Amino acid sequence: MLAPSVLPAAAFIDPQGRNRAAVEAIFQRVAAQVLDYLAAAGSQGPLPEVKDIHFQGIPEQPTAIAPLLESLGDLMAQSMNPAHPGYMGHMDPLPATASIVGDWVAAALNNNMLSVEMSPALSRLEPLLLADLAQLFGLGEKSGGLLTSGGSLANLQALTVARNVKLDCLQKGLAGGPPPVIFASELAHTSIQKAAMGLGLGLEGAVLVPTNANAQMDVAGLEEKILGAIAQGQKPFAVVATAGTTVTGNIDPLPEIARIARRYDLWFHVDAAYGGAIALSPTHRHRLSGIEQADSVTFNPQKWLYVTKTCASVLFRDLGLLHSHFRVSAPYMNTETDWVNLGELSVQGTRHADVLKLWLTLQHLGKAGCAELIEASYALTDHFVAQVRQRPYLELASAPEMNLVCFRGCPPGRSPDQWNIWNADLQQHLLQQHQTFLSLPGFRGQRWLKAVLLNPFTTVAQVGELFLAIDQFAAGYRVDG
Ligand SMILES: Cc1ncc(COP(=O)(O)O)c(C=O)c1O
Repeated sequence: MLAPSVLPAAAFIDPQGRNRAAVEAIFQRVAAQVLDYLAAAGSQGPLPEVKDIHFQGIPEQPTAIAPLLESLGDLMAQSMNPAHPGYMGHMDPLPATASIVGDWVAAALNNNMLSVEMSPALSRLEPLLLADLAQLFGLGEKSGGLLTSGGSLANLQALTVARNVKLDCLQKGLAGGPPPVIFASELAHTSIQKAAMGLGLGLEGAVLVPTNANAQMDVAGLEEKILGAIAQGQKPFAVVATAGTTVTGNIDPLPEIARIARRYDLWFHVDAAYGGAIALSPTHRHRLSGIEQADSVTFNPQKWLYVTKTCASVLFRDLGLLHSHFRVSAPYMNTETDWVNLGELSVQGTRHADVLKLWLTLQHLGKAGCAELIEASYALTDHFVAQVRQRPYLELASAPEMNLVCFRGCPPGRSPDQWNIWNADLQQHLLQQHQTFLSLPGFRGQRWLKAVLLNPFTTVAQVGELFLAIDQFAAGYRVDG
């Protein structure tokens, strides 16, 4: 390091260890601060109000560690707190300990998943782990995949390969010809529409299929839409089934959709970003039956596998198609190795080593630990659903198939418009008075409440108390209150 320097003594870790003590002091303080925060997450509130960000601009001079950690503490205290047992609003879990460690070590290694020489161990670990993950879904001998930064990117990549394979347009793109279309349910994640937009098909290139009363794709409706598209001169090439819809957690009928995909020669993609986790539960994996016929699957371990964000995957039944219909070789990368430069296969070039935290988490929890977590959250969901069903003034949006309950108050004597206000008021009441965060999604044009029962520290007793609080709210509700 040049002397004299304005840089702090611990700006970097000296590779000869000369400033080890200074760095160690910082690491220990941060570790203590993070632990103080997470070990008291239950007393912080699930969704703190943001009072002040104290943003003072980028400083001219370096900042000392003590005030920096104080500012960090302020930001932490105002952050979403998914570790709180009353945090139920979204598909955001408390982080598994091993995944926190994995993220920290990945940052320390600062390898690059772009190429084998930039991440020699981790570029070998990722395909091995992803091949194992693909086997969980029964995708067969030739399967494998990639980690992506989120499920939206996984869906985009799957549908890009689908388009390149089915329309044979890797080299020349979509010059002329009938407009290609993808089918997905009206309750599919918006990333499918974004993918259609990104693939040059426009938002209308994602044809939305009606759903049944249980929020699942209507299979007859799918076939009608396919025939309608063909009659209009469009070119259907892919169908997306969702296993765990974002708002209600329902599963489209996978075997029937697979059958229709085969009949019309469509690529069959399953967006199991949320629901894929149940492949790890011997008790519940039957719910995903049919997924083994998918050409590609999106699965986000960052959701129901408790891995820190981001950690998502795209899996292919025939990984060879990713090589033949997507791979762009980079001449600046060393290709001597038997292992693939993952940056040639991925939409992303430089990529964070998410594999480390996924691998560590799966090792630490084991399949049995994952199954236990999934089964416990199903048990808690059963209890939650029973509480809703006991109350005539509450209704379910669908019959839950995962640990996600979408419900609302429909108090008698009020119109559905008033129900919207009632539910929004209830949501705020539970957040302000009962340390419980339910989200307030729009579903079929109305406001609903959503609970995602991911947190293993949420107890049956807490769910009971939540419903007593809802009863009290309902009994005391005034239109102006
Ligand atoms: C079913 C489904 N697919 C895809 C996504 C997109 O994932 P991400 O937010 O990681 O891009 C989500 C996100 O909630 C989802 O619920």
